[in-house]
Amino acid sequence: MQNLKVLLWFWSFLFSLILRISTSLDSIAPTQSIGDGESLISRGGTFEVGFFKPENSNSRYLGIWYYNVSPLTVVWVANREKPLNNTSGILRVTDQGLVLVNGSTNSTVWSSNMLRKPENQNPFAQILDSGNLVLKDGHNEEEILWQSFDYPGDTFLPGMKLGLDLVTGLERSVSSWKSTDDPGHGYYETKLDRRGYPQVVITNGTATMIRLGPWTGLTFSGSTLYLRYTQLSNEFVFNEKEIFYEYNLLNTSNFVRIVVTTWGNLQSFHWLRQTGSWETLLSIPATQCDKYAVCGANSICSVFNTAFPTCKCLNGFVPKYPEKWEESHWSDGCVRITPLSCSKDGFKKLTNMVLPDTSSSWYNKTMNLQECEDLCLKNCSCTAYANLDIRGGGSGCLIWFHDLIDMKEGVNEFYIRTTISELDDNQNNNSIKKKLAVIIIGSALFIMCITLGMAIYVWRNKLEKLEIFCWKQNSCESANEDIDLPSIDLSTIASATNHFSSGNKVGEGGFGPVYKGVLANGVEIAVKRLSKNSQQGLQEFKTEVQLIAKLQHRNLVKLLGCCIQQKEKLLIYEFMPNRSLDYFIFDGSRRKLLDWTKRFQIISGTARGLVYLHQDSRLRVIHRDLKTSNILLDKGMDPKISDFGLARTFGGDQTVENTKRVMGTHGYISPEYAVHGSFSMKSDVFSFGVIVLEVVSARKNREFSIPHQDLNLLGYAWKLWSEEKSLELVDESLGDSIVEDQVLRCIQIGLLCVQERPEHRPNMSSVIHMLNDDKPLSRPNQPAFYPHQESSSSPINNEMFSRNEASITLLEAR
Ligand SMILES: *[C@@H]1O[C@H](CO)[C@@H](O)[C@H](O)[C@H]1NC(C)=O
Ligand SMILES: *[C@@H]1O[C@H](CO)[C@@H](O)[C@H](O)[C@H]1NC(C)=O
Ligand SMILES: *[C@@H]1O[C@H](CO)[C@@H](O)[C@H](O)[C@H]1NC(C)=O
Ligand SMILES: *[C@@H]1O[C@H](CO)[C@@H](O)[C@H](O)[C@H]1NC(C)=O
Ligand SMILES: *[C@@H]1O[C@H](CO)[C@@H](O)[C@H](O)[C@H]1NC(C)=O
Ligand SMILES: *[C@@H]1O[C@H](CO)[C@@H](O)[C@H](O)[C@H]1NC(C)=O
Ligand SMILES: *[C@@H]1O[C@H](CO)[C@@H](O)[C@H](O)[C@H]1NC(C)=O
Ligand SMILES: *[C@@H]1O[C@H](CO)[C@@H](O)[C@H](O)[C@H]1NC(C)=O
Repeated sequence: MQNLKVLLWFWSFLFSLILRISTSLDSIAPTQSIGDGESLISRGGTFEVGFFKPENSNSRYLGIWYYNVSPLTVVWVANREKPLNNTSGILRVTDQGLVLVNGSTNSTVWSSNMLRKPENQNPFAQILDSGNLVLKDGHNEEEILWQSFDYPGDTFLPGMKLGLDLVTGLERSVSSWKSTDDPGHGYYETKLDRRGYPQVVITNGTATMIRLGPWTGLTFSGSTLYLRYTQLSNEFVFNEKEIFYEYNLLNTSNFVRIVVTTWGNLQSFHWLRQTGSWETLLSIPATQCDKYAVCGANSICSVFNTAFPTCKCLNGFVPKYPEKWEESHWSDGCVRITPLSCSKDGFKKLTNMVLPDTSSSWYNKTMNLQECEDLCLKNCSCTAYANLDIRGGGSGCLIWFHDLIDMKEGVNEFYIRTTISELDDNQNNNSIKKKLAVIIIGSALFIMCITLGMAIYVWRNKLEKLEIFCWKQNSCESANEDIDLPSIDLSTIASATNHFSSGNKVGEGGFGPVYKGVLANGVEIAVKRLSKNSQQGLQEFKTEVQLIAKLQHRNLVKLLGCCIQQKEKLLIYEFMPNRSLDYFIFDGSRRKLLDWTKRFQIISGTARGLVYLHQDSRLRVIHRDLKTSNILLDKGMDPKISDFGLARTFGGDQTVENTKRVMGTHGYISPEYAVHGSFSMKSDVFSFGVIVLEVVSARKNREFSIPHQDLNLLGYAWKLWSEEKSLELVDESLGDSIVEDQVLRCIQIGLLCVQERPEHRPNMSSVIHMLNDDKPLSRPNQPAFYPHQESSSSPINNEMFSRNEASITLLEAR
């Protein structure tokens, strides 16, 4: 009896030992299992399989993730739809395959359905360094009975196949999680569309959202998937047995993964060991043109320098509904002007294109291009043809019928059917007529502009209409009334900014944080995410933003678009690579990069931008929050004012708590604004004066102090000026670069701008003249805030800022 007990104890000890050992291995056999807290690790230490829980969830899942990568990056989940509620889950290998059971009830939560019954009863499961969890025949390790790679989750790993096994009928697709905390099947799926010639699409239910297009021999026609990562090989297999796409890494030590995100983007990442982070290689949709059929039928979507789509009918086609088209409602597409004659048609070659939707196409892999053309010509519903494979001079034949859908700029070429008359037209009349029109209108305006002492600029806008600009000094007025500010999709912005990740945040402006974004076509943008608590109505917001968009000057940051979606209000600006003036001027080493010539250019440019806001634009705009951090610097270190026009739109109805942040900044605020809450263009002039003195001295007014003197920067500058020692104010790091006369003028202009009383300050156009003339300047008096006068010594009270709003005109049409 005692012996039996000992023996039992011994056996159970041995059994548990085996269990424990097995957990540090890469495989389990039928007698073994892994419970929650245990895991298998692939031989090379790349992947781990075990139980995990998403960060903000209490549910537990059996999954595969990268071993030694933090944060936890899960690539596959077994029980996607049936989460475990506690740690009682157990993974077993049985003769039915892999089974995940609920330990407390012994009920099956998930199981691998094996394709073939094992001949023997000795299968084992193993996690491979590719991330594939395989069930193998114990007697013949080559025989794979089941593999996780056949049932992808949201992640497409190297070595996986995307597509169909035509023999077994197995379809492998990649589908998004419901949310980052729920691996259940979400809306979006990346899969092979087998209608017509196979192409890869991303769908939402039955609707196509994005089309990577057909395989053209080297890549998918509509995807630049691997432009940024070349260390891999691609393969597309299409035969009687299977159709699939697969990619493999040339160096398997690297980690690359492609994910369908919970918001329907296709993103690919590369692990950077040095920084311990995932680098985004690609994010689709990258532009509006990546959205399926955004331009409707027979129309081409193009993305020029900016991120915004322009739709253009194919030659010989016109918009189906011209009025809607003009308003950028493109989905109805274009229709043919004159019907095809069927027998007497020709073809026109389109280059640098993505092939149109192939879901209703026909193909033959052995025909050549000439045979393809002949066949297309014979069938009256054939509208276009192309080679299937572009390698080796091209081979195969792909034919489209009826409407051509989802065309955009790319790298492929195809031929569209055209009536003979159009072919001639295109080559002669049309372009000549257009050119003639430009010449006539242009000449008339040229004469007019010259008469008025302005220069002329002719521009063809996105609707193929001519816009005529007359340039006067530095201001630019469009003769055309409406500037249509593009509305950009939230998902495009989310993917460009890594979903507003903190790593992409480049600043916190008065109206909300600013993020840097990179669209996949390389265009850099700055996204201002406006505080959500603005009470302003949507229509009012749109109107205001359209007004701001009309403010265009080379010393103002350009507004590229906006996005109003899901409670988000985003403004998209051109990105300024050199940040802002304060970043340079108040930094000991960076300020050396700005010599006097550059600083003078910055002062002059800022002044010109302000003149435009105050006087030259059709709206009168008072900035209200001008400061060095609002003066951004472009590639050439030329200044661009930012945040203009926002004060009324967002300042006016801010809640009291936000008032301090929103309206004006201590150190730049004029006394009448600080004390009485009243402001005018002259308050901007005051702020400009502070900026000039800061740029010359490289010192912050706000943090200024000198030993034994109760002076701020303005007072100090005035004291030195009145003692004729102004040059002592000048930043030493300017060294020999200074032009003494210019520097002294700037200091004096700065002092004139910061006078106590608004009427004693010059307006901005006089400032421009003062900067450029050499006429004597008037003498400044003691500036505002000079040694702590009564009126300004009281602490700046937030409530004062919101007073008097009604009497203030910020943005008025003229
Ligand atoms: C096991 O099943 C029981 C009954 O269905 C359920 O109440 C329990 O939560 C399950 N355990 C786990 C870990 O999911
Ligand atoms: C976990 O609990 C939920 C409800 O409490 C139940 O619907 C679900 O089936 C349980 N999961 C398992 C694996 O038993
Ligand atoms: C898991 O939950 C079930 C019922 O909810 C319970 O019977 C079982 O003891 C729990 N297991 C563990 C390990 O907590
Ligand atoms: C759990 O179920 C399996 C088959 O369904 C059975 O073979 C096994 O004996 C059960 N285990 C327990 C502890 O009930
Ligand atoms: C996908 O479909 C769902 C349900 O129809 C819808 O709520 C969601 O907005 C769609 N997503 C996109 C990006 O269109
Ligand atoms: C493969 O990549 C690893 C990690 O990036 C690197 O250390 C190694 O040198 C690479 N091997 C080759 C052959 O390039
Ligand atoms: C493809 O074209 C070739 C040559 O014209 C022809 O022999 C073959 O039957 C065609 N195949 C199909 C599937 O139509
Ligand atoms: C043209 O092609 C379509 C699609 O393959 C086919 O249905 C139709 O019969 C063809 N017409 C002629 C006249 O060959």
